Amino acid sequence: MPLVPMRILLDHAAENGYGVAALNVNNMEQIQAIMEAARETESPVIIQASRGARSYSQDAYLRHLMLAAVELYPEIPVCMHQDHGNSPATCFSAIRQSFTSVMMDGSLSADGKTPSTFEYNVEVTKKVVEVAHMLGVSVEGEIGCLGGIEDGHGAGLSEDQLKLHLTDPDQAVEFVKQTGVDALAVAIGTSHGAYKFTKKPTGDVLSMTTIETIHKMLPNTHLVMHGSSSVPQELQDIINQYGGALKPTFGVPVEEIQRGIKHGVRKINVDTDNRLAITGAIRKVFAETPEKFDPRDYLKPARAAMKEVCKQRMIQFGQAGWGPKIKCKTIDDMAKVYGY
Ligand code: G3H
Ligand code: 13P
Ligand code: ZN
Repeated sequence: MPLVPMRILLDHAAENGYGVAALNVNNMEQIQAIMEAARETESPVIIQASRGARSYSQDAYLRHLMLAAVELYPEIPVCMHQDHGNSPATCFSAIRQSFTSVMMDGSLSADGKTPSTFEYNVEVTKKVVEVAHMLGVSVEGEIGCLGGIEDGHGAGLSEDQLKLHLTDPDQAVEFVKQTGVDALAVAIGTSHGAYKFTKKPTGDVLSMTTIETIHKMLPNTHLVMHGSSSVPQELQDIINQYGGALKPTFGVPVEEIQRGIKHGVRKINVDTDNRLAITGAIRKVFAETPEKFDPRDYLKPARAAMKEVCKQRMIQFGQAGWGPKIKCKTIDDMAKVYGY
């Protein structure tokens, strides 16, 4: 089965009331971890690469790794998505590299840091939708701003400042109307990276009610939650037990994500939890067997640890079991659906 457009997966998720994890990758082991998790849970998957990931792995390596994934796992529908495209040029280069879905993140300027204007956001997103849909590729837009800059992307807003940058539901409606995006990322108080909340989040910092309001106003738009790692205490503990120095922190509880899924959330972005799992597993090998130096001795447990996190999320978000049941379309079929 060739790579599928994200729209197919999200439409199916909406029809059947589940969410799909969108998992970030930078290398072969991460792709292998996701694909094994998907096979064991029979899940459809969204694999996404940030600009940083594309430059780290180089587009040609990434493209061939993804082609290997679809060849080795023909029963699994796989979407390849550009995470946080900072400009139309980034999105178009992703499409040239066989990505079947792109995010045009016009909530920030092209520097990936400065909050932009609504007009700028509409302009760049609309431009991407026009070209992408002609080619059958799906588009995610974003309205409102996330926090966090430790991964090089984000406005660097604090927990308090974030409250001022939550998605405005009226603007969300106008944005979808003017751009025609397939999916909309909304800001509800989350941040990228491990340091999201200083205590288990309650409604004053994690605004699930914003999602509920937007879903009522835009019942046919697939909503996306970014910064949705749960930052499990046990993964933090493993890192710190083996010489790491993570400060106490809290992520987005899985039950809040499940609440979102009941209210139109169809794509849930998770990167940090996998990074934590990989790092903890590698630290453990280094600490317990310092005489080892074959990369396979620590990359295998790292890959296995990431696979476990992916499996958990696939089950918790409800995508498990649906993979083989989805009637897939290619991007060429999808272009026809868009009227081209
Ligand atoms: O956008 C956030 C993702 O976690 C990707 O992070 O830009 O460091 O690859 P990255
Ligand atoms: P986390 O840092 O919470 O995993 O979020 C990842 C993300 O939103 C990627 O776009
Ligand atoms: Zn994100």
